[in-house]
Amino acid sequence: MKTIAELLQEKLEKAFEQAGYDAKYAKVTVSNRPDLCQYQCNGALAAAKQYHKAPIQMAGEVVERLADSDSFQEISAQAPGFINMTVSDAFLSDYINAMAAEDKFGVSVPDKQETIVIDYGGANVAKPLHVGHLRSAIIGESIKRTARYMGHKVIGDAHLGDWGLQMGLIITELKHRKPDLVYFDESYEGDYPQEPPFTMADLDEIYPYANAYSKEHADYKEEAQTATAELQAGRRGYLALWQHIINVSVADLRRIYARLNVDFDLWKKESDAQPYIPDMIQQMKDGGYAHMDEGALVVDVKEETDTKEIPPCMLLKSNGATLYNTTDLATIVERRKLFDPTRIIYVVDKRQSLYFEQVFRCARKTKIIGSDVDLVFVGFGTMNGKDGKPFKTRDGGVLRLENLLEDVNSQVQNKMADRDMDQETMRDAAAKIGLAAIKYGDLSNQAAKDYVFDVERFTSFEGNTGPYILYTIVRIKSLLNKVAEQEISVDDTVPILPSDNKTETDVMLALSKWSETVETAYAEQAPHKICQFVYELSDAFNKFYHETKIVTNEDTAARESYIKLCRLVGRVLETAMDLLGLEAPDRM
Ligand code: ARG
Repeated sequence: MKTIAELLQEKLEKAFEQAGYDAKYAKVTVSNRPDLCQYQCNGALAAAKQYHKAPIQMAGEVVERLADSDSFQEISAQAPGFINMTVSDAFLSDYINAMAAEDKFGVSVPDKQETIVIDYGGANVAKPLHVGHLRSAIIGESIKRTARYMGHKVIGDAHLGDWGLQMGLIITELKHRKPDLVYFDESYEGDYPQEPPFTMADLDEIYPYANAYSKEHADYKEEAQTATAELQAGRRGYLALWQHIINVSVADLRRIYARLNVDFDLWKKESDAQPYIPDMIQQMKDGGYAHMDEGALVVDVKEETDTKEIPPCMLLKSNGATLYNTTDLATIVERRKLFDPTRIIYVVDKRQSLYFEQVFRCARKTKIIGSDVDLVFVGFGTMNGKDGKPFKTRDGGVLRLENLLEDVNSQVQNKMADRDMDQETMRDAAAKIGLAAIKYGDLSNQAAKDYVFDVERFTSFEGNTGPYILYTIVRIKSLLNKVAEQEISVDDTVPILPSDNKTETDVMLALSKWSETVETAYAEQAPHKICQFVYELSDAFNKFYHETKIVTNEDTAARESYIKLCRLVGRVLETAMDLLGLEAPDRM
């Protein structure tokens, strides 16, 4: 569906031409002075050079040709040459009615369906989740939902880290603690036990311990490195332990991601790409792309136009071990083979941007991927605490996501202590509101920027927060419940009427930005644009709600029209929140 600005622009293009000017000057944008007008065109200012005329005169000539149009409530030329426009109430309500009748409220889905793999989450098996993983999950989930809403075939992959040193560390520590376990007996040829020799709580304790210990003890670290290499080389007992670690840890991760309302289509792991490595390396050698450099196998990826140093992409260390790079490249090979994607989007901490630049260049140069596949890096900033440093828990330790969720939920429950609700309803509401506080607090910032995690602000029921948006939805739900309970009739064959007051006009104007918002949020991987939209719409709606008698209005036609508008706002807000991975409770 065309935006209002586009529709107005079409009218202006004709008028510019009729007045003897090039239509290219008729560009219409949303006004940056909403106090003066809704839309504006600054083209006459730009056209002055070409036509050697005063811009205000040209603007006047254009406006004259549209003075009779019933699309405008007002169109005027303003010094030094702006064209200011406010659409008529009928034009606006026509637009809103058209939007309400369209699939997806008028979002234009592209003709060509893409197949998009989104690599997000990126948690490391058996290592505590950190805030970077939280951000990746939140942002990636929204990008995924938006792309899917746009009609694309989207595959979200958790791409778990399961092939690194953390595995060697855990194996080593287990060996020290329980050397008699059958997994360490190299002569053992039988089947290994089904039951893991540890619980999640054990793993939670073992990894941080082993990690800290290895930093102090070089020999221990070396042991862990050797164990990692042996695991990667396929030592049976270690593979069996590794499988146990994955089973225990992934079950835990699944639970946590589910609480975040984040769900992956694939739970692939770095190790899944390993079988693709030998052929890939062979191909890179045969193609003459990979060469030895101080014992390591590398591909040069620097380009003449580089302004900063881009180091080569290392594929094999001198001891033959593979690296993070190698896995990511092999994962591209794997994804091509399994899904033939047109685009792969990586949602990862922006501090990995140079790394992904190397990987992308290497993939292109060595032709493991063609120019028909887009590789997109969406780098996000750091979530900081109020002290401006990367977020830590109160005791300064690593983030336990579940504790964070509990913390936020209890803050929300405190705020709602005076509500007349049973325990169950309250718990459900607090979980949804708490999640909205966290996710919206994150998503409302441009992803690439750092932001401050401020629980008090994020959980506030007022201002640009998740709870405020949910509150607006709940308000609409309860209004519509009243309509249903009191059996107030609403004739759906009659369209929403032209607005009869400023607050209603503002609701319609905010609504009208929907299709453009979703289309840009998708094109730019920018969930914050959806947040901006829901906030503006909620704000406009609440003002309208406070100033308008809706359900009790004596004027039947007005009442029905208002109710229909409320219903539309509710549907659009809920859809938008779903794109952010959020859901409203029934009451709050
Ligand atoms: N596991 C990695 C980390 O914790 C993130 C993975 C990002 N995705 C990727 N394809 N490299 O830093």
